[in-house]
Amino acid sequence: MEPSWLETRWARPFYLAFVFCLALVLLQAIKLHLRRQRLLRDLRCFPAPPTHWLYGHHKLLQDDEIEKLSEIIEKYPCAFPRWVGPFQAFLYIYDPDYAKILLSRTDPKSQFPNQFLSPCIGQGLLNLDGPKWFQHRHLLTPGFHLNILKPYAEVMVHSVSTLLDKWEAMLITQHTTVEVFEHINLMTLDVLLKCAFTQDTNCQINSSTDPYVKALFEFNKIIFHRTQSFLGHHDIIFNLSSEGQCFQELSQVLHHYTEKIIQDRKKSLQDERKRDNTQERKYQDFLDVVLSAQAEHGDIFSDTDLSAEVNTFVVAGQDTTAAGISWLLYCLALNPEHQQRCREEIRGLLGDKPSTIWDHLEEMPYTTMCIQEALRLLPPVPSISRELNKPLTFPDGRVLPAGMNVILSIWGLHHNPAIWENPKVFNPLRFSPENSDQRHPYAFLPFSAGPRNCIGQKFAMIQLKVSMALILLRFEVTPDPTRPPILSPQIVLRSKNGIHLFVKKIP
Ligand code: HEM
Repeated sequence: MEPSWLETRWARPFYLAFVFCLALVLLQAIKLHLRRQRLLRDLRCFPAPPTHWLYGHHKLLQDDEIEKLSEIIEKYPCAFPRWVGPFQAFLYIYDPDYAKILLSRTDPKSQFPNQFLSPCIGQGLLNLDGPKWFQHRHLLTPGFHLNILKPYAEVMVHSVSTLLDKWEAMLITQHTTVEVFEHINLMTLDVLLKCAFTQDTNCQINSSTDPYVKALFEFNKIIFHRTQSFLGHHDIIFNLSSEGQCFQELSQVLHHYTEKIIQDRKKSLQDERKRDNTQERKYQDFLDVVLSAQAEHGDIFSDTDLSAEVNTFVVAGQDTTAAGISWLLYCLALNPEHQQRCREEIRGLLGDKPSTIWDHLEEMPYTTMCIQEALRLLPPVPSISRELNKPLTFPDGRVLPAGMNVILSIWGLHHNPAIWENPKVFNPLRFSPENSDQRHPYAFLPFSAGPRNCIGQKFAMIQLKVSMALILLRFEVTPDPTRPPILSPQIVLRSKNGIHLFVKKIP
């Protein structure tokens, strides 16, 4: 009898390979099935909006995510599980008591999207966890003391003035609207580079020549695309893509640039010491602060750590502050009566001497309330996430197991109708002392709270006040009704089509 094809010598290895692959696929399928069952079990006490078996909530939240979230928050108090495909889910929370419990713990940050930053900026405060994060945080906190920040106000005044001169020059030649986010983003970068390592790149006027500035903007763009693309989340796929290759080149540029600045600064400090001629520098920049932390604790603070922290300072502060200032301007453009009240308050304090602003930062109650209300309505960081390292019990008794990813939606918290009356309305008086008295301390969290709150929040508030004061003294802003912003809640809350405003010089 003829042997069957399976019994021929050449077919056997193929047959075995086929069976092996089939077994692998089956094993994987069982693993995924068990994973789904586990997630369904762990999240069963949290009702969720209807999901698609394959896309999860992707289709539901695809268009106009922010608007849909508003509806969900009204229907599902405190939290809802959000499914990303059939095998991944995380719990979205937007209740102040839930936020308090989460933020008082020290769970590590979720891998997404922080892992995307590490290859480029290194391991700094933003993406460190555990004892190393604690050491860095402890060493860097003095760098954000008011004494260190005070001279930065002058740097800010200078950079904002450059921005306003640019607008003035633009208005002479064209009478169109200005896409303010792009301009303000360059201005905040200008400030950060001066405060981080005293680099005057003139990037507001000539953004395309400095290699660091160019690399940083490209880096932000790639990170933005990567968070949007599902395939780009996978390291192997991303690294093989043209964007991934470009990202690696940019990482090199950023590393070399900061490395050179650090080595140059170390050398010049050594030279000064040798000549016993420690020149009084105009101000202590962030690099000085980190270098002195290294001098005292060299054993725990390496050169790599140093470079990562300086990069983190620039990356964490740039887009966030630019978004904060741009959204605030947008809110004031939509609300001219509040804009005018801020302008009068600022005029009364500064007159024609904007450079004296440091002395008046604590004396602008109305402007401060408008800043807070804009940070509530359009929080620059719309959400933050943690991966639980031990089970978490919420105040209502519901429990989540270790390993679950929890997203605190700052946007959801700030629009929660259970806390904020008419949450979509811009009303700065919500923040008057009498109206804030009874509010839950975790209801308003633009800078997060607890041990991992924003280390740069004082810096950011100073920059928001300085920018607003100087802009309102020279310009009036009104919205462009033909191009309303389309919200895009990524790592930073941006607008897909920019933030277009009419800016008019005040005579
Ligand atoms: C309006 C502007 C800003 C907003 C809304 C903002 C918001 C936040 C938020 C919500 C977090 C918590 C992130 C998390 O838990 O995952 C954070 C962390 C952080 N921010 Fe900011 N930030 C702003 C400006 C700045 C500035 C100007 C700097 C530095 C100069 C800065 C440096 C940092 C750093 C280093 C962390 C990580 C802190 C840690 O984990 O120890 N931020 N920020």
